Amino acid sequence: MTYPAPTINIDSVRQQARKNVEQGAVTASYTADRPVVLKMLNEALATEIVCALRYRCHHFMARGIQARAVANEFLVHSNEEQGHADLLAARIVQLGGEPDFSPATLLTRSHTDYTEGSSLGDMITENLIAERIAIDSYRHFIIYLRDQDPTTRRMLEAILATEEEHADDLADILLQLPAAPEADATADSGRSVKGAAPIKLIKKSAS
Ligand SMILES: [Fe+2]
Ligand SMILES: [Fe+2]
Repeated sequence: MTYPAPTINIDSVRQQARKNVEQGAVTASYTADRPVVLKMLNEALATEIVCALRYRCHHFMARGIQARAVANEFLVHSNEEQGHADLLAARIVQLGGEPDFSPATLLTRSHTDYTEGSSLGDMITENLIAERIAIDSYRHFIIYLRDQDPTTRRMLEAILATEEEHADDLADILLQLPAAPEADATADSGRSVKGAAPIKLIKKSAS
């Protein structure tokens, strides 16, 4: 299928470019509803910060022989969520907004909860649920944007791909946890078993 060549009135483009120069990257052809996009980006930012904090807490709190590899994975995920937060904050500024890092309202703006979890199984499950919420939130955001803001959309698509990897990693880890509820002395209430083989993390793709 061939598409007709675009017709661009370059004189009009030049005139528009001279107006509102303080808006930087936001030009006359930006068709998305900017306040809506900024609100959604700030909600995503809050979600990423909460996820980074939850993973970091779990990295330090995970205990037991089975927890070592999982704790390391929590740290990797935490750092990647922080990287997502940085991308979102930078894009908010590019679009003329202000990234909201206020800890006072973080949880009210985040799409996911901050749950500490009392066992390794709980921690993995809570993070997996949070990843699944983030995946659906990003998908809805991407569908909403369509072609109105390709730069934001591409950024969200890249973040979404990483969230899907995170969810896949956690689902794999959860499958490897023994189901037998034999108590571990380290207070893992159900999943971690004394003497059980350490969990192996298999990377399916580079991230
Ligand atoms: Fe993320
Ligand atoms: Fe994630």
